[in-house]
Amino acid sequence: MAFFTHHITRALSSSTVRNAAIKHVTVIGGGLMGSGIAQVAAATGHSVVLVDTSEDILKKSTKGIEGSLKRVVKKKFADKPEAGEEFVQKVLKNISTSTDAASVVQGTDLVVEAIAENLKVKQSLFSTLDKVAPEHTIFASNTSSLPIADIAVSTARLDRFGGIHFFNPVPMMKLVEVIQAPGTSQETFNALLDFSKALGKHPVSCKDTPGFIVNRLLVPYLIEAVRLHERGHGSKEDIDVAMKLGAGYPMGPFELLDYVGLDTSKFIVDGWYQMEPENPLFSPSPLLNKLVSEGKLGKKTGEGFYKYK
Ligand SMILES: NC(=O)c1ccc[n+]([C@@H]2O[C@H](COP(=O)([O-])OP(=O)(O)OC[C@H]3O[C@@H](n4cnc5c(N)ncnc54)[C@H](O)[C@@H]3O)[C@@H](O)[C@H]2O)c1
Repeated sequence: MAFFTHHITRALSSSTVRNAAIKHVTVIGGGLMGSGIAQVAAATGHSVVLVDTSEDILKKSTKGIEGSLKRVVKKKFADKPEAGEEFVQKVLKNISTSTDAASVVQGTDLVVEAIAENLKVKQSLFSTLDKVAPEHTIFASNTSSLPIADIAVSTARLDRFGGIHFFNPVPMMKLVEVIQAPGTSQETFNALLDFSKALGKHPVSCKDTPGFIVNRLLVPYLIEAVRLHERGHGSKEDIDVAMKLGAGYPMGPFELLDYVGLDTSKFIVDGWYQMEPENPLFSPSPLLNKLVSEGKLGKKTGEGFYKYK
């Protein structure tokens, strides 16, 4: 069936095909984000192939997805556990896994990339896939901080390349930022907006600017909280309490930094500083750099601004 569909789609003119709804999705990277994206796409009836570098990682991803689905089902099907189990099995059936991206993109409408946040690595992946993916296939990156245009130049399909930025944890967070780079066609952009809606998410339209909308506002705020503390103008605890009780935020900035990971936050702000060194919002924070150099990366290492043991 997949073979047949693939040949039919190849035979059709690319403009006809590009308007078709996205059904087959290849998610590259089975980590935190890729697993979540695969889960949500499968739960909304898409046929998904999840790709990572080893079978071991993919086994962990599948286990993670199963666990997450079971948690969703516990709430959603509280009084119908059998229907819940049926739903879990149905969703899992929509996901297959592979360690060979080049071979699985043959039958795909959309590639969502969620691998390491490294420009060269992302470019190398997309450049390889561009040579083997069908004409109509849309490529999209889930990058948090790299310009979409810089990744897209590794391909010859700038018009069919955009950004689709999810939030962690993907099954819970409603927002998707859809990014239109200068080369992204309106058709591709619309297809990504429609796909986000088909996942049950709420998309917002973004330009290809550092941090898009959410991180462009959130990261400078987080770093400014660190600077406020560095200047001796408030303790971490008081700043966290102040933003929770005074601004109604569910977490304070130091709690959120520890949750996101101090290395990730530093990586983002350092990248933007390189792009715009004159922008004071992006200037490095000595305290953040010190904690990262000591391996205190937040919740994941047991210590960041706070201790978690
Ligand atoms: N963590 C977040 O909160 C968050 C939020 C939005 C966007 N992002 C972005 O999503 C992307 C992934 O982030 P993550 O937190 O899921 O990372 P992660 O480290 O949890 O997962 C990345 C996965 O990609 C795999 N991988 C690396 N190179 C690969 C390749 N060439 N082919 C196939 N698989 C490969 C790794 O083995 C790993 O399993 C990054 O670009 C990140 O900036 C992250």
